[in-house]
Amino acid sequence: MIVLGIESSCDDTAAAVVVDGREMRSNVTTSQAELHARYGGIVPELASRSHIQQIVPVVRAALAEADLTLREIDAISVTSGPGLAGSLIVGLNMAKGLAAASGKPLIGVNHLQGHAYAAWLHEPIPVPALQPASPAPPAPEESCGFPLLCLVVSGGHTDLALLKSHGEFERIGRTRDDAAGEAFDKAARLMGLGYPGGPVIQQVAENGGPSDPLPRAWMPGTWDFSFSGLKTAVLHRARAEGIYPPPDGGPDPEAVAALARSFQEAVADVIATKTARAAEEFGARGIVIGGGVAANSALRAALRDRSSVPVISPPPALCTDNGAMIAAAAYRYLERGERSGWDLDVMPGLTIGEAPSAPAATAS
Ligand code: KG4
Ligand code: ZN
Repeated sequence: MIVLGIESSCDDTAAAVVVDGREMRSNVTTSQAELHARYGGIVPELASRSHIQQIVPVVRAALAEADLTLREIDAISVTSGPGLAGSLIVGLNMAKGLAAASGKPLIGVNHLQGHAYAAWLHEPIPVPALQPASPAPPAPEESCGFPLLCLVVSGGHTDLALLKSHGEFERIGRTRDDAAGEAFDKAARLMGLGYPGGPVIQQVAENGGPSDPLPRAWMPGTWDFSFSGLKTAVLHRARAEGIYPPPDGGPDPEAVAALARSFQEAVADVIATKTARAAEEFGARGIVIGGGVAANSALRAALRDRSSVPVISPPPALCTDNGAMIAAAAYRYLERGERSGWDLDVMPGLTIGEAPSAPAATAS
């Protein structure tokens, strides 16, 4: 089954073509990071207006790279939530238009479930002439088995969910305040490092010397997270060390690097420790990670270190928002016979355990 995936929930306009939920025939993303950088965060109106400009060329490029026409696509999938309403609407309308014009089924996708399904994706497998095709890498449920524990750590969410069988997510933990990515972005702003904060903190932290550890919020007795206290601790440390407000000539790069390292260690320690413990507690056979912060090398290393079950992590480029993960999740819904109706609406507040659309009364 060949699925087109469209993603516009936040600040990336993306589209991809994926075969059977795994093989990426194309994956095209345009980032708006530059547009929002000078504001230190996403400006919703600018985001939706940029999606309007990008969506048609991006979808066209995804089809062209896959060397397919719309007629050869079996279904059209799109993120219906969560995300910014004005951004989601652009992708959803595009998908509805394509489905209406082509007569192909429309399927709304939960963006957070999409982040988990990025771990199923792989590059196209070349078929050498006169030789059998090499096999696809095993899927997580083949190499580990269900249930799988999913850690989705992005700019808007920090969720732990149990994936019991395909498409069946049960949320067991979440952040009570800031998302992990939001904490990276806010800490980076305090350190004068720009937006998005995650990649730049990771880079700067590599040269950071040791410093006093920052506090960790363990939220005992729950699988929840909290990062707002850490953000305040970064503010106090940044003030004490002359990093914030930025002095004339800028802060001492060594002090910034040490603080970046200390911050990253605190986030990675809490997330990796709690995720590994949750996997044991719930009898998970493997841990699947996704979302922008899952690209973080310190978090990946800490998880591998602490987990007693395999950790399946998509390549960093598939951790951040993309269309392929939407098509990958859509395949699992379609396999179960699900379709969305024309009444499919955006769901800005959707959580990881919720269905992305009411079941279609009338299949599209
Ligand atoms: O999943 P994503 O692309 O968008 C959302 O759905 O939110 O995640 C974006 C977030 C941003 O907060 C960004 O700072 C963070 O992911 N991020 C990282 C890294 N790369 C992106 N955080 C830590 N380390 C990274 N290497
Ligand atoms: Zn995302």
